[in-house]
Amino acid sequence: MKFKTIEWKDDRVRMLDQRKLPQEVRYLDCRNASSVAQAIRTMAIRGAPAIGVAAAMGIALAARKNRSTHPRIFAKAVEKVCREMRETRPTAVNLFWAVGRMEKILEDVERDGVEKARKRLVREALQILETDIEVNRKIGMYGKHLIKEGNGVLTHCNAGALATGGFGTALGVIYAARDEGKRFEVFVDETRPMLQGCRLTAWELVQEKIPATLITDSMAGVLMRKGLVHLVVVGADRIAGNGDTANKIGTYGLAVLSKSHGIPFYVAAPTSTLDLSLVSGEEIPIEERSVAEVTHFRGFPVAPKGVKAFNPAFDVTPHSLIHGIITEKGIIRKPFKRNLKGIMTNPK
Ligand code: MRU
Repeated sequence: MKFKTIEWKDDRVRMLDQRKLPQEVRYLDCRNASSVAQAIRTMAIRGAPAIGVAAAMGIALAARKNRSTHPRIFAKAVEKVCREMRETRPTAVNLFWAVGRMEKILEDVERDGVEKARKRLVREALQILETDIEVNRKIGMYGKHLIKEGNGVLTHCNAGALATGGFGTALGVIYAARDEGKRFEVFVDETRPMLQGCRLTAWELVQEKIPATLITDSMAGVLMRKGLVHLVVVGADRIAGNGDTANKIGTYGLAVLSKSHGIPFYVAAPTSTLDLSLVSGEEIPIEERSVAEVTHFRGFPVAPKGVKAFNPAFDVTPHSLIHGIITEKGIIRKPFKRNLKGIMTNPK
Protein backbone atom coordinates (compact mmCIF):
# COMPACT_ATOMS: atom_id res chain seq x y z
CA MET A 1 0.00 0.00 0.00
CA LYS A 2 1.11 3.59 -0.51
CA PHE A 3 0.38 4.45 3.13
CA LYS A 4 0.79 2.91 6.57
CA THR A 5 -2.29 2.69 8.78
CA ILE A 6 -0.28 2.27 11.98
CA GLU A 7 3.41 2.06 12.84
CA TRP A 8 5.49 1.42 15.94
CA LYS A 9 8.17 4.11 16.40
CA ASP A 10 9.70 2.98 19.74
CA ASP A 11 8.78 6.11 21.70
CA ARG A 12 5.41 6.65 19.96
CA VAL A 13 2.72 5.05 17.84
CA ARG A 14 2.14 6.72 14.50
CA MET A 15 -1.21 6.35 12.79
CA LEU A 16 -2.83 7.82 9.72
CA ASP A 17 -5.51 10.14 11.11
CA GLN A 18 -8.64 8.77 9.44
CA ARG A 19 -10.78 11.69 10.63
CA LYS A 20 -8.92 13.93 8.18
CA LEU A 21 -9.26 11.73 5.09
CA PRO A 22 -9.70 12.23 2.19
CA GLN A 23 -8.97 15.96 2.36
CA GLU A 24 -5.71 15.59 4.27
CA VAL A 25 -3.19 12.79 4.64
CA ARG A 26 -1.98 13.58 8.13
CA TYR A 27 -0.22 11.31 10.61
CA LEU A 28 -0.97 11.41 14.30
CA ASP A 29 1.81 10.63 16.80
CA CYS A 30 0.56 9.13 20.07
CA ARG A 31 3.24 9.38 22.75
CA ASN A 32 1.36 7.65 25.55
CA ALA A 33 -1.31 4.99 26.04
CA SER A 34 -4.06 7.49 26.85
CA SER A 35 -3.62 9.27 23.54
CA VAL A 36 -3.84 5.89 21.76
CA ALA A 37 -7.08 5.16 23.66
CA GLN A 38 -8.38 8.60 22.70
CA ALA A 39 -7.49 7.96 19.03
CA ILE A 40 -9.54 4.73 19.12
CA ARG A 41 -12.49 6.41 20.86
CA THR A 42 -12.59 9.33 18.44
CA MET A 43 -12.02 7.09 15.41
CA ALA A 44 -8.71 8.57 14.30
CA ILE A 45 -8.09 4.84 13.90
CA ARG A 46 -11.02 2.45 13.40
CA GLY A 47 -11.91 -0.91 11.87
CA ALA A 48 -11.89 -4.09 13.96
CA PRO A 49 -8.36 -5.44 13.32
CA ALA A 50 -6.79 -1.95 13.30
CA ILE A 51 -8.13 -1.05 16.74
CA GLY A 52 -6.80 -4.36 18.07
CA VAL A 53 -3.33 -3.47 16.77
CA ALA A 54 -3.61 0.08 18.15
CA ALA A 55 -4.65 -1.11 21.62
CA ALA A 56 -1.75 -3.60 21.73
CA MET A 57 0.70 -0.87 20.71
CA GLY A 58 -0.77 1.51 23.31
CA ILE A 59 -0.19 -1.14 25.99
CA ALA A 60 3.37 -1.73 24.71
CA LEU A 61 4.00 2.02 24.86
CA ALA A 62 2.81 2.11 28.48
CA ALA A 63 5.09 -0.83 29.33
CA ARG A 64 8.04 0.84 27.67
CA LYS A 65 7.48 4.16 29.43
CA ASN A 66 6.88 2.67 32.87
CA ARG A 67 10.21 2.82 34.74
CA SER A 68 9.24 0.55 37.65
CA THR A 69 11.51 -2.42 38.38
CA HIS A 70 9.03 -3.99 40.77
CA PRO A 71 7.03 -6.74 39.01
CA ARG A 72 3.77 -6.22 40.89
CA ILE A 73 3.80 -2.42 40.51
CA PHE A 74 4.68 -2.75 36.81
CA ALA A 75 1.95 -5.35 36.19
CA LYS A 76 -0.68 -3.27 38.00
CA ALA A 77 0.13 -0.16 35.94
CA VAL A 78 -0.01 -2.07 32.64
CA GLU A 79 -3.22 -3.89 33.67
CA LYS A 80 -4.81 -0.48 34.25
CA VAL A 81 -3.93 0.49 30.68
CA CYS A 82 -5.40 -2.81 29.44
CA ARG A 83 -8.68 -1.90 31.17
CA GLU A 84 -8.59 1.58 29.61
CA MET A 85 -8.18 0.01 26.14
CA ARG A 86 -11.04 -2.44 26.74
CA GLU A 87 -13.35 0.48 27.44
CA THR A 88 -12.67 2.39 24.21
CA ARG A 89 -15.17 0.65 21.91
CA PRO A 90 -17.48 -2.30 22.68
CA THR A 91 -18.35 -4.19 19.48
CA ALA A 92 -15.20 -5.26 17.62
CA VAL A 93 -13.92 -8.36 19.38
CA ASN A 94 -10.43 -8.00 17.87
CA LEU A 95 -9.82 -5.27 20.45
CA PHE A 96 -10.50 -7.66 23.35
CA TRP A 97 -8.59 -10.44 21.63
CA ALA A 98 -5.48 -8.24 21.25
CA VAL A 99 -5.69 -6.89 24.83
CA GLY A 100 -6.10 -10.49 26.05
CA ARG A 101 -2.86 -11.47 24.32
CA MET A 102 -1.03 -8.62 26.04
CA GLU A 103 -2.54 -9.51 29.44
CA LYS A 104 -1.33 -13.10 29.04
CA ILE A 105 2.27 -11.85 28.98
CA LEU A 106 1.77 -10.06 32.28
CA GLU A 107 1.04 -13.42 33.92
CA ASP A 108 4.79 -14.24 33.82
CA VAL A 109 6.16 -10.93 35.06
CA GLU A 110 6.70 -12.12 38.66
CA ARG A 111 8.65 -15.14 37.44
CA ASP A 112 10.65 -13.55 34.61
CA GLY A 113 11.04 -9.95 35.79
CA VAL A 114 10.04 -6.56 34.46
CA GLU A 115 12.72 -6.15 31.78
CA LYS A 116 11.75 -9.38 30.02
CA ALA A 117 8.03 -8.57 30.23
CA ARG A 118 8.62 -5.10 28.79
CA LYS A 119 10.44 -6.55 25.77
CA ARG A 120 7.87 -9.29 25.30
CA LEU A 121 4.97 -6.82 25.37
CA VAL A 122 6.59 -4.74 22.62
CA ARG A 123 7.36 -7.88 20.60
CA GLU A 124 3.78 -9.12 21.00
CA ALA A 125 2.29 -5.85 19.73
CA LEU A 126 4.55 -5.96 16.66
CA GLN A 127 3.66 -9.60 16.11
CA ILE A 128 -0.06 -8.77 16.22
CA LEU A 129 0.52 -6.16 13.47
CA GLU A 130 2.67 -8.42 11.28
CA THR A 131 0.34 -11.39 11.61
CA ASP A 132 -2.66 -9.25 10.74
CA ILE A 133 -1.09 -8.22 7.44
CA GLU A 134 -0.19 -11.85 6.61
CA VAL A 135 -3.70 -13.00 7.53
CA ASN A 136 -5.26 -10.35 5.28
CA ARG A 137 -3.19 -11.56 2.36
CA LYS A 138 -4.44 -15.11 2.95
CA ILE A 139 -8.05 -13.88 3.11
CA GLY A 140 -7.40 -12.20 -0.25
CA MET A 141 -5.93 -15.39 -1.67
CA TYR A 142 -9.00 -17.46 -0.75
CA GLY A 143 -11.56 -14.79 -1.59
CA LYS A 144 -10.24 -13.63 -4.96
CA HIS A 145 -11.78 -16.63 -6.76
CA LEU A 146 -15.24 -15.33 -5.93
CA ILE A 147 -14.68 -12.34 -8.23
CA LYS A 148 -15.13 -13.11 -11.92
CA GLU A 149 -14.00 -11.05 -14.89
CA GLY A 150 -16.44 -8.20 -15.56
CA ASN A 151 -18.23 -8.51 -12.17
CA GLY A 152 -19.75 -5.70 -10.14
CA VAL A 153 -18.67 -6.05 -6.49
CA LEU A 154 -20.42 -4.08 -3.78
CA THR A 155 -18.85 -3.31 -0.40
CA HIS A 156 -19.94 -1.41 2.70
CA CYS A 157 -18.06 0.73 5.22
CA ASN A 158 -14.27 0.35 5.08
CA ALA A 159 -12.75 -3.08 5.43
CA GLY A 160 -9.53 -2.12 3.70
CA ALA A 161 -5.92 -1.43 4.63
CA LEU A 162 -7.14 1.45 6.78
CA ALA A 163 -9.30 -0.88 8.89
CA THR A 164 -6.50 -3.41 9.48
CA GLY A 165 -2.74 -3.58 9.97
CA GLY A 166 -2.56 -3.34 6.18
CA PHE A 167 -4.08 -4.76 2.94
CA GLY A 168 -7.61 -5.29 4.28
CA THR A 169 -10.22 -8.02 4.55
CA ALA A 170 -13.11 -7.28 2.14
CA LEU A 171 -10.84 -4.94 0.17
CA GLY A 172 -8.05 -7.50 0.52
CA VAL A 173 -10.20 -9.82 -1.60
CA ILE A 174 -10.59 -7.02 -4.15
CA TYR A 175 -6.84 -6.20 -4.16
CA ALA A 176 -5.94 -9.86 -4.61
CA ALA A 177 -8.34 -10.23 -7.57
CA ARG A 178 -6.88 -7.07 -9.13
CA ASP A 179 -3.33 -8.41 -8.62
CA GLU A 180 -4.36 -11.44 -10.70
CA GLY A 181 -5.25 -9.13 -13.57
CA LYS A 182 -9.03 -9.41 -13.26
CA ARG A 183 -11.09 -6.45 -14.41
CA PHE A 184 -14.20 -5.59 -12.44
CA GLU A 185 -16.07 -2.62 -10.96
CA VAL A 186 -16.42 -1.87 -7.25
CA PHE A 187 -19.54 -0.16 -5.91
CA VAL A 188 -18.87 1.68 -2.66
CA ASP A 189 -21.69 2.41 -0.19
CA GLU A 190 -21.07 5.83 1.34
CA THR A 191 -21.94 4.40 4.81
CA ARG A 192 -23.93 6.98 6.73
CA PRO A 193 -23.45 8.54 9.19
CA MET A 194 -19.65 8.48 9.46
CA LEU A 195 -19.04 7.99 5.72
CA GLN A 196 -16.31 5.37 6.00
CA GLY A 197 -17.19 4.17 2.49
CA CYS A 198 -17.12 7.61 0.95
CA ARG A 199 -14.13 9.00 2.82
CA LEU A 200 -11.99 5.89 3.29
CA THR A 201 -12.87 3.04 0.92
CA ALA A 202 -13.26 5.35 -2.08
CA TRP A 203 -9.94 6.99 -1.15
CA GLU A 204 -8.14 3.63 -0.92
CA LEU A 205 -9.53 2.48 -4.27
CA VAL A 206 -8.56 5.74 -5.96
CA GLN A 207 -5.01 5.33 -4.55
CA GLU A 208 -4.92 1.80 -5.98
CA LYS A 209 -6.45 2.87 -9.32
CA ILE A 210 -9.26 0.32 -9.02
CA PRO A 211 -12.42 1.34 -10.93
CA ALA A 212 -14.95 2.36 -8.29
CA THR A 213 -18.35 4.03 -8.19
CA LEU A 214 -19.55 5.72 -5.03
CA ILE A 215 -23.26 5.37 -4.18
CA THR A 216 -25.41 6.42 -1.25
CA ASP A 217 -26.54 3.50 0.93
CA SER A 218 -30.10 3.74 -0.41
CA MET A 219 -28.97 3.10 -4.01
CA ALA A 220 -27.79 -0.49 -3.56
CA GLY A 221 -31.23 -1.99 -4.34
CA VAL A 222 -31.50 -0.18 -7.65
CA LEU A 223 -28.06 -1.35 -8.75
CA MET A 224 -28.93 -4.93 -7.84
CA ARG A 225 -32.22 -4.78 -9.72
CA LYS A 226 -30.37 -3.47 -12.77
CA GLY A 227 -28.11 -6.56 -12.63
CA LEU A 228 -24.96 -4.54 -11.96
CA VAL A 229 -23.98 -6.29 -8.72
CA HIS A 230 -22.73 -9.91 -8.84
CA LEU A 231 -21.14 -10.19 -5.41
CA VAL A 232 -21.35 -8.40 -2.05
CA VAL A 233 -18.35 -8.63 0.26
CA VAL A 234 -18.14 -6.88 3.63
CA GLY A 235 -15.95 -7.01 6.74
CA ALA A 236 -16.98 -7.91 10.28
CA ASP A 237 -16.56 -6.65 13.81
CA ARG A 238 -17.68 -9.76 15.66
CA ILE A 239 -18.93 -13.15 14.48
CA ALA A 240 -20.91 -15.30 16.92
CA GLY A 241 -20.64 -19.09 17.13
CA ASN A 242 -23.60 -19.61 14.76
CA GLY A 243 -22.18 -17.25 12.10
CA ASP A 244 -24.37 -14.23 12.92
CA THR A 245 -22.19 -11.25 12.05
CA ALA A 246 -22.00 -7.75 13.51
CA ASN A 247 -20.72 -5.20 11.03
CA LYS A 248 -21.26 -1.53 10.23
CA ILE A 249 -24.86 -0.37 10.38
CA GLY A 250 -26.48 -0.97 7.00
CA THR A 251 -24.87 -4.37 6.42
CA TYR A 252 -28.03 -6.24 7.45
CA GLY A 253 -30.17 -4.33 4.94
CA LEU A 254 -27.64 -5.09 2.25
CA ALA A 255 -27.77 -8.81 3.07
CA VAL A 256 -31.59 -8.82 2.83
CA LEU A 257 -31.40 -7.05 -0.53
CA SER A 258 -28.77 -9.51 -1.76
CA LYS A 259 -30.98 -12.48 -0.85
CA SER A 260 -33.97 -11.01 -2.58
CA HIS A 261 -31.93 -10.46 -5.77
CA GLY A 262 -30.11 -13.82 -5.60
CA ILE A 263 -26.69 -12.22 -5.13
CA PRO A 264 -24.05 -14.04 -3.06
CA PHE A 265 -23.27 -12.22 0.20
CA TYR A 266 -19.86 -12.91 1.78
CA VAL A 267 -18.17 -11.75 4.97
CA ALA A 268 -14.35 -11.44 4.99
CA ALA A 269 -12.73 -11.55 8.42
CA PRO A 270 -9.74 -12.98 10.27
CA THR A 271 -10.40 -15.68 12.86
CA SER A 272 -9.56 -13.06 15.52
CA THR A 273 -13.03 -11.62 14.72
CA LEU A 274 -14.73 -14.88 15.79
CA ASP A 275 -16.30 -14.91 19.22
CA LEU A 276 -17.29 -18.53 19.74
CA SER A 277 -18.19 -17.78 23.35
CA LEU A 278 -21.39 -16.22 21.99
CA VAL A 279 -24.12 -18.58 20.84
CA SER A 280 -25.77 -16.07 18.51
CA GLY A 281 -25.65 -12.47 17.34
CA GLU A 282 -28.27 -11.54 19.95
CA GLU A 283 -25.45 -11.48 22.50
CA ILE A 284 -23.15 -9.11 20.59
CA PRO A 285 -22.85 -5.72 22.33
CA ILE A 286 -23.78 -2.99 19.86
CA GLU A 287 -22.15 0.40 20.23
CA GLU A 288 -24.49 3.39 20.23
CA ARG A 289 -22.79 6.61 19.26
CA SER A 290 -23.70 10.24 19.66
CA VAL A 291 -26.94 11.23 17.91
CA ALA A 292 -25.10 14.34 16.69
CA GLU A 293 -23.52 12.06 14.05
CA VAL A 294 -27.04 11.68 12.59
CA THR A 295 -28.47 15.16 13.19
CA HIS A 296 -25.31 16.90 11.96
CA PHE A 297 -23.21 16.50 8.85
CA ARG A 298 -19.52 17.00 9.63
CA GLY A 299 -20.46 19.37 12.45
CA PHE A 300 -23.14 21.25 10.51
CA PRO A 301 -26.75 20.80 11.77
CA VAL A 302 -29.02 19.20 9.14
CA ALA A 303 -31.99 18.13 11.32
CA PRO A 304 -34.50 20.31 13.16
CA LYS A 305 -33.47 21.15 16.71
CA GLY A 306 -35.20 18.91 19.25
CA VAL A 307 -35.84 15.92 16.93
CA LYS A 308 -35.04 12.49 18.38
CA ALA A 309 -32.40 10.40 16.63
CA PHE A 310 -31.02 6.86 16.95
CA ASN A 311 -27.43 5.92 16.14
CA PRO A 312 -26.43 2.26 16.54
CA ALA A 313 -23.00 1.93 14.93
CA PHE A 314 -23.45 -1.74 13.98
CA ASP A 315 -26.13 -4.25 13.08
CA VAL A 316 -26.21 -8.03 13.07
CA THR A 317 -26.69 -10.01 9.87
CA PRO A 318 -28.27 -13.41 10.59
CA HIS A 319 -26.15 -16.35 9.44
CA SER A 320 -28.95 -17.55 7.14
CA LEU A 321 -28.23 -14.58 4.82
CA ILE A 322 -24.48 -15.25 4.61
CA HIS A 323 -23.08 -17.48 1.84
CA GLY A 324 -19.65 -17.85 3.37
CA ILE A 325 -17.08 -16.35 5.72
CA ILE A 326 -13.70 -15.80 4.09
CA THR A 327 -10.98 -16.32 6.70
CA GLU A 328 -7.21 -16.89 6.57
CA LYS A 329 -7.97 -20.61 6.98
CA GLY A 330 -10.26 -20.79 3.96
CA ILE A 331 -13.87 -20.02 3.15
CA ILE A 332 -16.17 -21.28 5.89
CA ARG A 333 -19.59 -22.41 4.70
CA LYS A 334 -22.78 -23.69 6.36
CA PRO A 335 -23.40 -25.15 8.83
CA PHE A 336 -21.42 -22.32 10.41
CA LYS A 337 -21.84 -23.57 13.97
CA ARG A 338 -20.02 -26.80 13.23
CA ASN A 339 -17.53 -25.43 10.70
CA LEU A 340 -16.46 -22.36 12.68
CA LYS A 341 -15.79 -24.56 15.70
CA GLY A 342 -13.92 -26.93 13.40
CA ILE A 343 -11.45 -24.34 12.09
CA MET A 344 -10.74 -23.10 15.60
CA THR A 345 -9.96 -26.56 16.94
CA ASN A 346 -8.13 -27.92 13.90
CA PRO A 347 -4.71 -26.23 13.63
CA LYS A 348 -4.62 -26.78 9.85
O1 MRU B 1 -17.04 2.04 13.26
P1 MRU B 1 -15.91 1.45 12.45
O2 MRU B 1 -15.48 2.33 11.32
O3 MRU B 1 -14.78 1.01 13.33
O4 MRU B 1 -16.56 0.16 11.82
C1 MRU B 1 -15.77 -0.64 10.99
C2 MRU B 1 -16.52 -1.71 10.30
O5 MRU B 1 -17.67 -1.98 10.56
C3 MRU B 1 -15.73 -2.53 9.36
O6 MRU B 1 -16.51 -2.93 8.28
C4 MRU B 1 -15.26 -3.76 10.13
O7 MRU B 1 -14.54 -3.36 11.26
C5 MRU B 1 -14.44 -4.64 9.32
S1 MRU B 1 -12.80 -4.06 9.27
C6 MRU B 1 -11.78 -5.06 8.41
